[in-house]
Amino acid sequence: MVDSKKIVLTGVQPTGKLHLGNLLGAVSSWERMIDEYDCLFFLADQHAITMPYVPADLRKNTLDCVAQYIACGLDPTRCKIFLQSQIIGHTELMWVLGCLTPIGQLERMTQFKDKSKKVGESVCSGLLFYPVLMAADILLYNADLVPVGEDQKQHIELTRDLAIKFNNAFSPTFTVPEPYIGSTGARIMALQSPSNKMSKSDANQNSVVYITDTDDIIRKKLMSAVTDSGNSVTYDPDNKPGIANLLNIYAATKNLSLSVAVEEFAGLSSYQPFKQAVADAVIAKIHPIRERYLQLANDKEYLYSVLHDGRLDAQKRANRMIAKVYRKSGFVNE
Ligand code: TYM
Repeated sequence: MVDSKKIVLTGVQPTGKLHLGNLLGAVSSWERMIDEYDCLFFLADQHAITMPYVPADLRKNTLDCVAQYIACGLDPTRCKIFLQSQIIGHTELMWVLGCLTPIGQLERMTQFKDKSKKVGESVCSGLLFYPVLMAADILLYNADLVPVGEDQKQHIELTRDLAIKFNNAFSPTFTVPEPYIGSTGARIMALQSPSNKMSKSDANQNSVVYITDTDDIIRKKLMSAVTDSGNSVTYDPDNKPGIANLLNIYAATKNLSLSVAVEEFAGLSSYQPFKQAVADAVIAKIHPIRERYLQLANDKEYLYSVLHDGRLDAQKRANRMIAKVYRKSGFVNE
C-alpha cells in the first residue's frame, strides 16, 4: 500500500544539549505531528562543523541528542531518526542547488551575518553554504512541512526559492515545502537578556534552561530571570520583554494560547508567584524528559539500532531523489 501521509522533516544541530527554546520552539511540536505525518527527524551533524568545534564533543553530543530526541517523545517506532552525515545525498544535492544560488543571497542571510561576526576573519565557506545544505536536507526527502523556530524562516524561504527555480529550469521535481512555526514558543528568549534568543552559546549560562537541568537548577534559573521594575503580568514584548518571554514559556509549556496564559495571572501585584508558576510548569515538563534521557543515554546499543533503522529508510528515499536530480541535471548515468 502506498503511504499517502504528508512528509514532515526537520533537524537540530547536535552542538550541545537541547534547551528550552529547542524544546518549545521545535521538538514539542514535532512530537504532536508524529501520528498524522510521515515524520523524519535528523541530527544536522554536518551543519555542526560550520563553527569551530571539537570532534570528540561532536561525537558524544550527537548520540546524546538522539537520546534526548527519544526522551522528548520522538518514538522511533512511529518516526525515523537519522544522522545527516550517514546519508549519501545531502551534500550531493547541496552542490547541485548551490549552482543555482546567487552568492549575494547567501551573504545577506541573517544567521550568516550574525555568526560570521562572532568568528571574524576565520569564517569558513561552509557557514556561507549552510542554508544550501539545509535546503538540500529538506528537498532530498520531498518534505511538505518543516517545523522550525522563527530564526529558521529565512532558510526555509531560500529552500522554497530553490525548489521553484529547479522545477522551472528542469521540470517539476521537488515539493515546495511550507514552514510550520508555532504560535507560542517559536522564539524563546535568553532569561538574563530577553532581547536575545535563548542559545546554547550564551556567555551567561543562567540564561539557558537545558532539558538535562535538575529541578533545582531550573527553578533557580527561572526565579532569577530578568524582568522589570513593574509588578503586573501583562504581555508587552517591547516594554516588558522579560515578562513577555516568561508568559510565552508558560503558554508553550502548558500548550495554552497566550491570551489564556495572560488571563491566569491577571490581577497579580508581584512577579514572584508568577515566576514560581512558570518554574513549576517548566519543571513538570522537563523532569520526566530528563529521567527518560538519563536511562537512554547509556544504552548505546539501542541508540545505534535506532540510527541504523533510520539510516536504511532515509538512504532509500535519498537514492531515489538523487537519481532523479542527477538525470534532470544532465549527468550521465551508465
Ligand atoms: P538549531 O540546532 O539551531 O535549532 C533547532 C531548532 O530549534 C529552534 N530554536 C528555537 N526556537 C525557539 N526559541 C529559541 N530560542 C530557539 N533556538 C533554536 C530552531 O528554530 C530549530 O527549529 N539549521 C537548523 C538545523 C537544520 C534544519 C535542517 C532544520 C539543518 N537542516 C532542515 C530543519 C530542516 C538549526 O540550526 O537548528
